[in-house]
Formats: sequence, C-alpha cells, structure tokens
Amino acid sequence: MQGQEISTREAWGSKVAFIFAATGSAIGLGNIWRFPTVVSQNGGAVFVLVYVLAVAFIGFTVMLAELTIGRHTQRNPVGAFESIKPRTPWKFIGYLGMITGVCILSFYAVVAGWAAGYIFKMASGALKGKLTAEMSNKIFTEFSSDPIQVFLFFGLIMGLTIFIVSKGVKKGIERWTKVLMPVLFLLIVFLAIRALTLPGAGKGIAFYLRPDFSKLNGTVILYALGQAFFSLSLGMGTMITYGSYISKKDNLVSSAGWVTFSDTFIALLAGLIIFPTLAFSGQPGNVGDETLAFKIFPLIFPEIPGGQIFGIFFFTLLTVAAITSTISLLEVPVAYFVDERNWSRKKAALVIGLFTFVLGVPAALSTGGMQFFTKIKVLGLFAFIFGNISLAVGALFICIFVGYIWGIKKALKEISSGNPRFKLRPIWVFSLKFLSPIAILIILYFIKTLKG
Ligand code: PFF
Repeated sequence: MQGQEISTREAWGSKVAFIFAATGSAIGLGNIWRFPTVVSQNGGAVFVLVYVLAVAFIGFTVMLAELTIGRHTQRNPVGAFESIKPRTPWKFIGYLGMITGVCILSFYAVVAGWAAGYIFKMASGALKGKLTAEMSNKIFTEFSSDPIQVFLFFGLIMGLTIFIVSKGVKKGIERWTKVLMPVLFLLIVFLAIRALTLPGAGKGIAFYLRPDFSKLNGTVILYALGQAFFSLSLGMGTMITYGSYISKKDNLVSSAGWVTFSDTFIALLAGLIIFPTLAFSGQPGNVGDETLAFKIFPLIFPEIPGGQIFGIFFFTLLTVAAITSTISLLEVPVAYFVDERNWSRKKAALVIGLFTFVLGVPAALSTGGMQFFTKIKVLGLFAFIFGNISLAVGALFICIFVGYIWGIKKALKEISSGNPRFKLRPIWVFSLKFLSPIAILIILYFIKTLKG
C-alpha cells in the first residue's frame, strides 16, 4: 500500500501557494478570538511573553518537524507514521490527530458561525450608533442563545467547508487563501491603529504589554503552550498533511519560519485591537470568557467614520480566515480516508463533515441555547481538552518520533532538499530532542495539580 499512488497525488502550485494555505490554516479564530480571551484570563502581558517564547522555541521546532515528516512521506498523518515505522503503534499518533481535528472542528465551526452571523448583525444596523459595553453584551447573548440562528450559521460554515475540501487541494484551498489573507492583514493593521488612538487606550496597552511577573504560574504556561500549538495548527498532523503537498525543491525552513512569524504577528495585532478597546469601554483587564472578542469588537466600529461598512468587512474577513482553518481541520481526516481507504474526496468530506456537525450540537447549545450544556461550558471544555491537551500530547510524540525514532539524520536529509545550508540546525536539533519534549512533559505533568 506504500508509495504507489504518490505520483498521482496533488501538490501545491508553488511555494507561495503553500505558504498562503498553511498561513490560512494557522491564522483564524485562534488569533482573533481565542488569543485575546486566553490573554485576559491569564494575567495579560506575562502570558504574551511566555506565548512568544513558546512559539519561537517550541512552535517553530514542531512546525518544521511536521512539515518534514509530511514532505518525506507524502501521506496523511496515519499513513506518514506507518510508512516510516510500519506495523508499530506510532500510527496511533496519526489517529489521535484525526480525532483531535474532528473535535476541534466541532466547536470551531460554531464560533465561525457566530462570526458569519455578525456580518448580518452589522449589516442590519443592530450594532450601529454609540454602543455601551452592556448593549453589546446583550446583543451577543441574545444571538448566541438562539438555537435557530446559531445552527443556521454553524450549518452554513460546515457546508462551505465540506464543499471546498471536496474540491481538492488546488482548486479549493489554494484559490481561496491567496486573495483573502492579504486583505485581512491590511484591515487588522488599520483597526489596530484606530484602537491605539482611542481615549484611555493606555490602560489596555499596559495590561497587554507590561508584564506583572507575580501572575506567572503553571496555568499561564500551560495555556500559553496550548495556545501556541492551537494557533500554529500543530500537534494533530495538519502540517504533516499540508507538508505532504510541498515540492522537494522548496525550502522547508523558510516556509515554517514564514508561517510561524505571520501567525504570531496577527495574534499580537489582534490584542492591540481588543485591549485598548476594552479599556476605552471602561473595563481594562476584564477577564473574559469565550465570548469576549464578539462583545468587544463591535465597540470599535462606531468610533470610525463609515464604521458599519468596516464592521461588515471585518466580520466577513474573520469568517473567511476561520474557513481557511476549518478546511485544514477537515482535510486531515479526509486525506486519511482518501489515501488509505480509497474513499472519494467527495464522500470523505461529506461523511466526516456531517459527523462533525452532529458532534458540535452540544457546543452550539452551550452559550445559552440549552441550560445543561451551558452549565458545563461544553465549548470551553472542548477547547481546553482538544485545543490544549490533545495538541500538546501530539506535539510531544512528534518531537520524540523525529528526534529518536525516525532519527535526526534522516530528517535533516529531507530538510536539506531545498535548503542545503540549514543554519539553525543546532538550535532546532537541541529543541527537538531536549527542550521541546521536556518542556511539554513537565507542563503535562502539572495538569493534575492545575485541575485539582
Ligand atoms: N490555527 C487555527 C486558528 O488559530 O484559528 C485553528 C486550528 C486549525 C488548529 C487547524 C489546529 C489545526 F490543525
């Protein structure tokens, strides 16, 4: 089963196409919705600092490791582990990745649906005029506790995701991401400038950028690391899958660097919008839950001439950024069923997509739609278990696999194709074999104490 079908496998049109698609996967709700939430919950600037360190020293390492496995094997995650170490339990890391992907998608698409719903909220004028924080909170609460609206938009997002993935790598994923990502970037820069010049912004900036080291603890580190993996789409084989479509001529190191850098840059910018706006609305350092960004963003648009149009535009692009991520989440299990089980792309996308929709029902009803699910905070719980822990476990095994099982030598040989002089080699090897796995292990070990 190994190898024969490789020649007929799709590939990215160019290195740039890969970078756009992988950046599209990385940049999404994680940057604009989840990052500000976890910053607010974990002490502000000190979290940001740990996050940036985690991205630079661990995130980049795992990103390059995943891309290397992917390009070497040209397979989905299960097939990739199986082709390097056949008939060993390593393939279960691939299965874990698929399950994680489906579970993340099940709540992620709900939030993406909120973003889509807000396009219409903006357009209808519901968020126009001078908005107070209370009014904005009320509008969100009414929206997110109405099952009809939530399911309508959740279904729409899943439908679009299934449609694009069923079209395949080039015609689906590549075509979308190339145009829309740069537009999103420009809009975010513009909004950050506006937020920074709002009255009272200084307090928000201080919370966001002046670290208070007394707030540093195990929870902060766990969430920072988990957020780094989530935001960079690591630990579940997405980058193995996307790496499997990269050409042997391309430079994996610079590709990994670009994706890591752009993703982090956008997250940091999103914080520069949210925290000054929070302070402007009289709540600096507010500890928000998963709904924070949706309550805060609308507050900035009335402060801009023509703000309604900006608002519509912003939520449209946020929805698009989310969709370039949902397609990568669905692509992982779909690639498996196409490569290993000979399913057609269409069938795989449809079956797994529908299954994910059903799995997402509790999360969709957990913001007021149904008391039981709201009480146990299903969405937050899923985000913690699958968006933090599962990804960290996956990343740990990926480091061990490349560092010790497959072997550094073979990985370096793969990297050297397209990049004969790999200057960061000693740092990468050190991080892959020691720093990253040990750091992840220690953090996972301490989860018991955090939750207890
Ligand atoms: N990186 C995406 C975001 O930040 O929104 C979410 C995500 C996509 C996580 C793909 C994991 C993944 F495999």
